[in-house]
Amino acid sequence: MSERIIATDFKEEDQDIELKLRPDSFEGYIGQEKIKSNMKVFIQAAQQRGETLDHVLLYGQPGLGKTTLSGIIANQMRAKIKATSGPAIERAGDMAAVLNELNEGDILFIDEIHRLNRSIEEILYPAMEDYVLDIVIGKGPSAKSIRLELPKFTLIGATTRIGLLTAPLRDRFGVIHHLEPYAVEELIQILHRSARVLSVEMMEEGAAEIARRSRGTPRIANRLLKRVRDFAQVRYDGVITEDVAKQSLNLLEVDPMGLDALDKKMLRAIIEKFGGGPVGLDTLAASIDEECDTLEDVSEPYLLQIGFIQRTPRGRIVTELGRGHLRLSPG
Ligand code: ADE
Repeated sequence: MSERIIATDFKEEDQDIELKLRPDSFEGYIGQEKIKSNMKVFIQAAQQRGETLDHVLLYGQPGLGKTTLSGIIANQMRAKIKATSGPAIERAGDMAAVLNELNEGDILFIDEIHRLNRSIEEILYPAMEDYVLDIVIGKGPSAKSIRLELPKFTLIGATTRIGLLTAPLRDRFGVIHHLEPYAVEELIQILHRSARVLSVEMMEEGAAEIARRSRGTPRIANRLLKRVRDFAQVRYDGVITEDVAKQSLNLLEVDPMGLDALDKKMLRAIIEKFGGGPVGLDTLAASIDEECDTLEDVSEPYLLQIGFIQRTPRGRIVTELGRGHLRLSPG
C-alpha cells in the first residue's frame, strides 16, 4: 500500500508533469479566485508604493498548488525566488545563511514551514519584522550578539498544518490564505490544459470522469491523466473518452468518488469491526495493519471532506452517506 495513486505528497513521477504544467501567471492559474483577486491587489499596491510585498502564509492540503502560486507571486512581483523547506533547515546557521544570501526584493519560499524547529523560528522573527539578523558569536560569558541588517524581502510560507505553527510565527504574516479543494469544473479546466501540454486528445466527458475521481486535487488529477493516457494509448486508440477514463480508473482501483482500496478498507473496518464507530484512529489502524499516519494524512481528510466519516470526541464514525457509497461501490 506504499504506492497509492491518490496520495497527495509530491512524488518523483510528478516532477516532469508538474514542472511542465505549472502556470506562470494568474491568468493560467485556475480556481482559488478569492486568493488570486486579493493577491493581485496586494501586489499592485506594493508595486505602486515601491515596497516589498508583505509576508504571505499559504495553507491547505498537499497538491493544491501552494508552490505554484508562490512562483506566480514572484513572477508578478518580478522578484527572484529562493526556495527551501522546514526540514531542510536543520540548524540556526542554515537559516542565517539562507537569509544572508537574500537581495532586496527577493522572495524566500519556505515549504512545510511548520516543521522548522523553535530555535530556528526565533531567528525568523526579527528577520521578518525588522529585517535584521541577530547572530550570537562565541559561547558562555564571552558570547557576543551582533546584529546584521538584511535587505527587505518577502517570506512566503507554505504549510499543510496551520495548527502546528506557533502563534508568534503565524502572527508575523501580513497575509494568510487558505487554499480550498477544487470544484470538479475547475479540475476539468486544469485537465484540458494539461492534456494540451501533453498532446493527448481528451473528450469533455473523459475529463469529467477523471476530475470526479481526483479528490479535489490538481496533483492527483494530473497523475491520473498520465496513467489514463497510457491505457488510452496501449489498449484503445489514444483518445481519452468517458469509457476509456472509466475503464482505466477502475483498473487503477480508483472508484467513482476517488476512493482507493485503503479508503474502503478503512470504512469497512469501522462498520464491520467497530459497529460503525466511534473508534480511535490508532485502534482502527492497528485493526487493519496500517500505519496511523497513512490513514490520518491521506484517507481521513478526504473522507471527512466528502462527509463519509465524521470526527467525534470519542473517535471516527461512518456516516449514512459513507455506508450508501460502499453499498453502491463495494470495490
Ligand atoms: N496545475 C496545478 N494547479 C493548477 C491550477 N490551479 N491551475 C492551473 N494549472 C494547475
